[in-house]
Amino acid sequence: MRDYTNINDLGNLQNAVKEAIEIKKNPLQHKTLGEGKTICLLFFNNSLRTRLSTQKAAQNLGMNVIVMNFGSEGWELEYEEGAIMNGSKSEHVKEAAKVIAQYCDIVAIRAFASLTDKEKDQAEIVMNSFKKYAGIPVVNMESATGHPLQALADAITMEEYKTVHKPKVVLSWAPHPKALPQAVANSFVEMMQLHDADFVITHPEGYELDPEITKLSTIEHDQEKAFENADFVYVKNWSSFKDYGRVMNSDSAWMVTTEKMKLTNNAKFMHCLPVRRNVIVADAVIDSENSIVIQQANNRTFSAQMVLKKILESNG
Ligand code: CP
Repeated sequence: MRDYTNINDLGNLQNAVKEAIEIKKNPLQHKTLGEGKTICLLFFNNSLRTRLSTQKAAQNLGMNVIVMNFGSEGWELEYEEGAIMNGSKSEHVKEAAKVIAQYCDIVAIRAFASLTDKEKDQAEIVMNSFKKYAGIPVVNMESATGHPLQALADAITMEEYKTVHKPKVVLSWAPHPKALPQAVANSFVEMMQLHDADFVITHPEGYELDPEITKLSTIEHDQEKAFENADFVYVKNWSSFKDYGRVMNSDSAWMVTTEKMKLTNNAKFMHCLPVRRNVIVADAVIDSENSIVIQQANNRTFSAQMVLKKILESNG
């Protein structure tokens, strides 16, 4: 595997999950694999889990880690070919990516969707420019359209907590005051499509995700019906894809409550975090013993470690 920008880059998800669980048993078992290698973690947006878990994963493999908050500390980058750079953008990605690649062996990037320019977001300008110009492996730490490190951590967590061979898994939209990207939901759907599970997406009308991504999935607009007999309830807000970036509905009736969780098969509650309590989910649910959000966040380390190990093994 050269790059990790989509869950499908793993090849076989089930093998990747098994390997991550093996790594988790002894996280330092490959501590010399990354000796003498450096990873640059570039953050164009804020982070808690991705920043710390990816750094920890790289250190567990013996790598040197350079972290840069590019969004606040770097020069503003130009991505357009042939741009006349007489505005606010000080450096072209052509130079920036090539320079960064001289300092490291792998570059990992967080660059959220603008939610204002659908075409540019869909084209993954930042991720693809680094892929094109850096010439070294690129890891997606959440891009405009996907968060595959999160999706792998979610798959590991479900493997650890499932009690039946083919669980019912529900991805539920929930309200949020701000416009959020579709990235986490997209990667979760792509990951679930590689699973033997009864998978249902539930959201209000108007919140359809990219139909190219959801075309193989069941969509149910009645949230309570979707929750019936669920083994896992994965909750996430996203803004409209069709009416791009719009918050069309902040209906608190979609918040996840104890009453709704009672409809499930004693389901585990999942969320990628950060989460807005009593907006997305009631305190009583996230504080219950069925909530596995902290365990899910812990698996971000083993997700990143599995991915970095695979890249190091493939790229010498
Ligand atoms: N889930 C996740 O990516 O968390 P951070 O935004 O804090 O990195």
